[in-house]
Amino acid sequence: MEVTLRILRYDPDRDEAPHWETYKVGVDPMDRVLDLLIKVKAEQDGSLSFRRSCAHGICGSDAMLINGRNRLACRIRVDQLGKKISVAPLPGLPVVKDMIVDMNGFFGKYRSVKPYLINDQPEPERERRQSQVDRARYDDTTKCILCAACTSSCPSFWARPEYVGPAAIVQAHRFIFDSRDEGADERLEILADENGVWRCRTIFNCVDACPRGINITRAILEVSSAIVGRRG
Ligand code: SF4
Ligand code: F3S
Ligand code: FES
Repeated sequence: MEVTLRILRYDPDRDEAPHWETYKVGVDPMDRVLDLLIKVKAEQDGSLSFRRSCAHGICGSDAMLINGRNRLACRIRVDQLGKKISVAPLPGLPVVKDMIVDMNGFFGKYRSVKPYLINDQPEPERERRQSQVDRARYDDTTKCILCAACTSSCPSFWARPEYVGPAAIVQAHRFIFDSRDEGADERLEILADENGVWRCRTIFNCVDACPRGINITRAILEVSSAIVGRRG
């Protein structure tokens, strides 16, 4: 079958502004959008630029706006989209070229919540043990692959780019509720500031966008409740 693929192209060395270009691509219905992009790059325009690595929904590098929704190009197939497919870079992030967006701000926010185990106790002889119940407490947020689909779909982030965003809160949640970690207070203080959790207006775009099915709004609510509980 043939698909009409519209791609929002932008090359800062050549274009004054982003513009749509249309490609006719012969595909199999089971092909993924990533396969289409690879095909266009190989057969029609070698300058087309996009990130990808694992091609199996693990690395998080190929999130983009596909038919109006943030998704991973390697996880969405032609038969799920139909014969007209549009592809644009993630909204709300500066475009470097074509689908490639500048992720520095996104990863800066990720780093700001200290996304690593904080524990100054002497190292045990073997691993720091944890019960299954304690592990289950933050299981959902361990699934995050830092694809930025959530943060870049959030109207609160579009309106205020300083908002730390759902992805960073998810990453903070993963450590705040880890029974082996001792850095919860530091993280909660960071997330209690004017660009932290209170910027969330429970719009739920982030949940719709997350390719890992993480209950992001629940994680945000749990972090907000922990901040309130700490104050009380
Ligand atoms: Fe991507 Fe989901 Fe992680 Fe957000 S929470 S960065 S959408 S995997
Ligand atoms: Fe944004 Fe998700 Fe909250 S879309 S406003 S972070 S519920
Ligand atoms: Fe790794 Fe799609 S290429 S998630």
